[in-house]
Amino acid sequence: MTLDTIRTVAVLGAGTMGNGIAHVFARCGYNVILRDLEESLLTRARDTIAKNLDREAKKGKIAEGEQSKILTHIHTTTDFSEIARADFAVEAVPERLDLKLSVLREADKLLRPGAILASNTSSISVTTLAAATSRPDRFIGMHFMNPVPVMPLIEVIRALQTSEDIFQATMALCERLEKKPVAVNDAPGFVSNRVLLPMINEAAFAVMEGVATAEAVDSIMKLGMNHPMGPLELADFIGLDVCVHILDVLHDGFGDSKYRACPLLRKMVAAGWLGRKSGRGFYAYAK
Ligand SMILES: NC(=O)c1ccc[n+]([C@@H]2O[C@H](COP(=O)([O-])OP(=O)(O)OC[C@H]3O[C@@H](n4cnc5c(N)ncnc54)[C@H](O)[C@@H]3O)[C@@H](O)[C@H]2O)c1
Repeated sequence: MTLDTIRTVAVLGAGTMGNGIAHVFARCGYNVILRDLEESLLTRARDTIAKNLDREAKKGKIAEGEQSKILTHIHTTTDFSEIARADFAVEAVPERLDLKLSVLREADKLLRPGAILASNTSSISVTTLAAATSRPDRFIGMHFMNPVPVMPLIEVIRALQTSEDIFQATMALCERLEKKPVAVNDAPGFVSNRVLLPMINEAAFAVMEGVATAEAVDSIMKLGMNHPMGPLELADFIGLDVCVHILDVLHDGFGDSKYRACPLLRKMVAAGWLGRKSGRGFYAYAK
C-alpha cells in the first residue's frame, strides 16, 4: 500500500467527529464519501462543514472562495454500498461495541481487499475491532480530537494485528492531512484518555470533598499549570456521561481501583447534568 494509491476516503457516521473528519480529508483534496443513516443528518453535517470552512476562510487558513470547491469533494449518501470505491475508510459511529462491530463487518464486506479500515473509537479495543474483520492486518485506530479541523493531534493506535506497512501508510496519511500523528499501542484508554481522565476524575473528587469549588480547581490548573482549559471545563465540553463511560472502560480494562469514577460525576450524569450539551454540568450554559 502506498500513500499515493489513497484517493477516495469513506467516512462512516456524519456526527460531531464524522463531519470534521470529512472536512479535513476534503480540505486536503481527497474525495470523500460521507455516509449516515438519514438525509437530514447528512444535510446537517454539510451545513456544519460549510460554516466551519467559512470560518477558516475568514481566518485565512484556506483561500477565500475555496469553500465551494472543497465541498464538491464531499459526496454524502445513505447508501452503504457506495463506500465500495473507497481506498481508505474511517468509522465514526457512536461508541457502542455492538454497533461498531456491525458497521465494521458490513464495511469490510463492501470494501475491496486492499483498502484500509480505521476506527475513530476513543475507548474500545482496536484489537477487538480488527479481529471482527477479514483484514485485521489492514485495520488501525485513528483517534481524531474534537474539533477535528482545529486540533493538530491524531493518536494512531496499532492493533496487535496491524501490519507495519499499514501503520506507516496511516502515519504518512495523517501528515498529508497536516495533522501531527503520535503512535501508541492498543491498551485501555490508549494514552490520551488514560492520562486525561484520571486528572478530570481527581478534579471532580476535589470538588466533591469540598477541597475547592469547580472554578477554583480550574483556575489553579489554568494559571498554575498553563492548561488552556481547566479539567472541569473540559469535562463539561467532553460530556460527563462520556467521561464516566471512559473511566468505566479504564476500570474494567485494568481492574485497578485508581480508575473508579468519582461518585459526584455519576450523580451529575444521573441528574442529566451532562455538561455543555445539556446546558448544565460543573457550569451553566445558555442553551
Ligand atoms: N465527540 C468527541 O469529542 C469524540 C472525540 C474523539 C473520538 N470520538 C469518537 O468518535 C466516534 C463518533 O462520536 P461522535 O461524537 O461523532 O458521535 P455522534 O453521535 O455525534 O455521531 C455519530 C453518527 O453516526 C451515525 N450512525 C449511527 N449508526 C450508523 C451507521 N450504521 N452507519 C453510518 N452512520 C451511523 C449517527 O446517525 C450519527 O450521526 C465515537 O466512537 C466516539 O467515541 C468522539
